[in-house]
Amino acid sequence: MATCGIAAGAQKVYETVQQEIARYGLAVTVVPTGCIGLCRYEPIVDIYVPGQEEAVRYGQITPEKIKKIIALHLFAGQPVPDYVCQDHRGKQMMVALRNSGVINPESIEEYIAVGGYQALAKALFEMTPQEVIEEVKASGLRGRGGGGFSTGLKWDYSARAEGDQKYVLCNADEGDPGAFMDRSILEGDPHSIIEAMTIAGYAIGADRGYIYVRAEYPLAVKRLEKAMSQARQMGFLGTKISGSAFSFDLEIRLGAGAFVCGEETALMVSIEGKRGEPRPRPPFPAVKGLYGQPTVLNNVETYANIPIILRRGASWFSSFGTEKSKGTKVFALGGNIHHTGLIEVVMGTPLRHVIYDLGGGIPGGKKFKAAQTGGPSGGCIPAAYIDTAIDYENLLELGSMMGSGGLIVMDEETCMVDVARFFLEFTVDESCGKCPPCRIGTKRMLELLERITSNKGEKGDLEKLEQLAKTIQAASLCGLGQTAPNPVMSTLRYFRAEYEAHIEERKCPAGVCKAFLEYTIIEEKCRKCSLCARTCPVGAITGKIKKPHRIDTEKCTQCGLCMSKCPVKAIAKRPKQ
Ligand SMILES: Cc1cc2nc3c(=O)[nH]c(=O)nc-3n(C[C@H](O)[C@H](O)[C@H](O)COP(=O)(O)O)c2cc1C
Repeated sequence: MATCGIAAGAQKVYETVQQEIARYGLAVTVVPTGCIGLCRYEPIVDIYVPGQEEAVRYGQITPEKIKKIIALHLFAGQPVPDYVCQDHRGKQMMVALRNSGVINPESIEEYIAVGGYQALAKALFEMTPQEVIEEVKASGLRGRGGGGFSTGLKWDYSARAEGDQKYVLCNADEGDPGAFMDRSILEGDPHSIIEAMTIAGYAIGADRGYIYVRAEYPLAVKRLEKAMSQARQMGFLGTKISGSAFSFDLEIRLGAGAFVCGEETALMVSIEGKRGEPRPRPPFPAVKGLYGQPTVLNNVETYANIPIILRRGASWFSSFGTEKSKGTKVFALGGNIHHTGLIEVVMGTPLRHVIYDLGGGIPGGKKFKAAQTGGPSGGCIPAAYIDTAIDYENLLELGSMMGSGGLIVMDEETCMVDVARFFLEFTVDESCGKCPPCRIGTKRMLELLERITSNKGEKGDLEKLEQLAKTIQAASLCGLGQTAPNPVMSTLRYFRAEYEAHIEERKCPAGVCKAFLEYTIIEEKCRKCSLCARTCPVGAITGKIKKPHRIDTEKCTQCGLCMSKCPVKAIAKRPKQ
């Protein structure tokens, strides 16, 4: 059970399952697993019956529903079709998520049963450190934390660097809004990260490592701690691992949830106990990282790929994906889409497949307008590019980026100026303040966007935005500032007319920005029931039962409560008169 399932009530369902199987005296094994990505259907229960190939997957389960399922399916052998959930995992390729939702993350035995720690044994007993590095290089694996740098090359630099002590770090900061794939892997398959980091330690000659996790991920931390202790007991961590000459151990470091601490140099000083601020590079961490020593830092999803690359071979991994982007990528699908949750697809999968086949399309029959990838460092891909194959290069070319894998789908009722303002507000809040282009420049950009969305835009504002963006991109110290203008630049590139409409026509075409709109009561439809007046929290609606009602637009805060409560849809949003 992962955070998504538990938040949806999985604990109660789990307890009910145990009570019910005890009540019926059934010989059933109950295994709690991690997240399988179908977050919208949580809590999920899979029922495996001996002799049947496939499990039956039930979604949105409550204690009442599970009682019925146990009575009918497990006791009487009759599945309950009404509770079966749609599963699009068959259309995906699970590599990084291969064990999530399949094994009990708190059991090292289950990890071993699916081939766990075999890659470590292979590395330690059949390969030299350089052979491990060459295998990772040959796989074509690139960092899944944002930049997409070759993992094998990074390991090679660290292996070759001089240092008395080397370190292996895992970046589990996961600061991108809307992204939760790293948390999901840590909660669903913690041993794969421990195994991968130990292999990295062997490859570069490090005997210590740290996992930097944000403190808001308590379940991930708990499972990691348990997995580390199990691995030590079994001899997969600690001195002379599995009887080899190699020793390696791990510690967890908690981050306080500052976005900038995900930036590699800031992360390292944060582990050292100092304020998490970036420093200029070079020197790169591979050569001079934690405590000034050669350090390999990789993202959680990057590490999750390592054991299977070593087990199945580089050529297996590089056989899928595109020419320069190998393997798969996990995305956190969110926004205006039916199936929110996690998906894992082969690099090069068209965006259309992700949105319509895996995401189930846009709710309410609305049109797809854009997909935002790469979080605050990324940009928006407009509907015209829906057939783009998703890989590092294609996304960059479109002015967006892979980032860590947040993918937010937007429908026709999304204001792109407001979207740009939202992301910039995030970066302004999260700027560490060390360098002026980021600290001051992004703030000035945000002020311009706020002006435009509050109907105070002026001629020349777009040019000012572009000029500021270029300077901030060029002059900022770290990736936070360098990429902060991306959402603005990409929306300006594809949706410039929408910006111009705000400034020149004094209109928000998507009908989102409050300053351009007002609420009104459509007299012919109004039943004069007075529900709206009684609902309005600021007393902006006047009128008595059976008498005409009207909205005082000066008082109205546009919260939309009246609109949602009106039984006859007599309240409309319209452009300000
Ligand atoms: C502002 C900022 C925040 C970042 N946050 C993360 C993060 O949360 N997780 C992550 O893995 N990488 C993050 N990165 C990228 C890391 O600096 C680094 O490139 C990455 O962890 C390297 O691992 P990889 O090569 O496996 O991708 C961030 C970068 C910047 C500039």
